Amino acid sequence: MKHLISAGDLGRDDALLILDTAEELARVSERSIKKLPTLRGRTVVNLFFEDSTRTRISFEAAAKRLSADVINFSAKGSSVSKGESLKDTALTLEAMGADAVVIRHGASGAPHRLANWVRGSVVNAGDGTHEHPTQALLDAFSMRRRLGRLEGLKVAVVGDILHSRVARSNVLLLSALGAEVTLVAPPTLLPVAVENWPCQVSYDLDSVLPKSDVVMMLRVQLERQNAAFFPSAREYSRRYGLDRDRVAKLHDDAIVMHPGPMNRGMEISAEVADSPRSTIVEQVANGVTVRMAVLYLLLGGAIGGDVQ
Ligand code: CP
Repeated sequence: MKHLISAGDLGRDDALLILDTAEELARVSERSIKKLPTLRGRTVVNLFFEDSTRTRISFEAAAKRLSADVINFSAKGSSVSKGESLKDTALTLEAMGADAVVIRHGASGAPHRLANWVRGSVVNAGDGTHEHPTQALLDAFSMRRRLGRLEGLKVAVVGDILHSRVARSNVLLLSALGAEVTLVAPPTLLPVAVENWPCQVSYDLDSVLPKSDVVMMLRVQLERQNAAFFPSAREYSRRYGLDRDRVAKLHDDAIVMHPGPMNRGMEISAEVADSPRSTIVEQVANGVTVRMAVLYLLLGGAIGGDVQ
């Protein structure tokens, strides 16, 4: 595997290899071993053209825990504001010795273009409304850790599917791993092509909840909404928000997920987000471990050996 651009590029075996490697790395970290020498002498560039808290910081933490050198690039304050292109920016960073480029970009397809221009590995950290494969991997890892399996799990992904790169990556990955995904949203927040995705679709959250093992709430991307099609925030929350009454419809072991950032009080109540069913904080911690596994496998290091 040279690049990680789409969850759809991962077959079941590749996906399980990443999850199993992450599990092994988690066990190393539970033994209070904070740093591995695996990627010593390698350079990881974080190339972020869009804002991020979790993904950017966790890729940085992951690379550092594997002893890689890390260069963080943010478009804000760079020569991008003078009109420098993605290609010239990437070639400039590569000239500084990047072995891997982790890119977040507002344009769907930007990581795919980048992979044609640089010699190193490219990791998609979120491109437009297209994909966010490492989010899907950390979500699957979190589900498997909490529920012990992925095969046969019933996963409801709820909310703004239309603008969500997380939804598409999760549908592709989870279906490859044998889970059954149902997308739940108002018709105006579903993409036209959803009928070709390997999942079910429902407009009725209350009927889906009792049969779900996992409920993954998505952020309503208010910055991308067309006001003519979006129900009011109050109406959205009434029909699709996850609050205490709706959570009561879930079976005892069902979990609640959210990739963050959250609109508390809109798609999810604060009470539910902070409840024992919620995996939201675990997802962030698991993100570091899963991204370590991705960098490790892409850059061809070896787990084990001396630690420092
Ligand atoms: N889930 C996620 O991608 O969060 P950030 O935008 O903070 O990276």
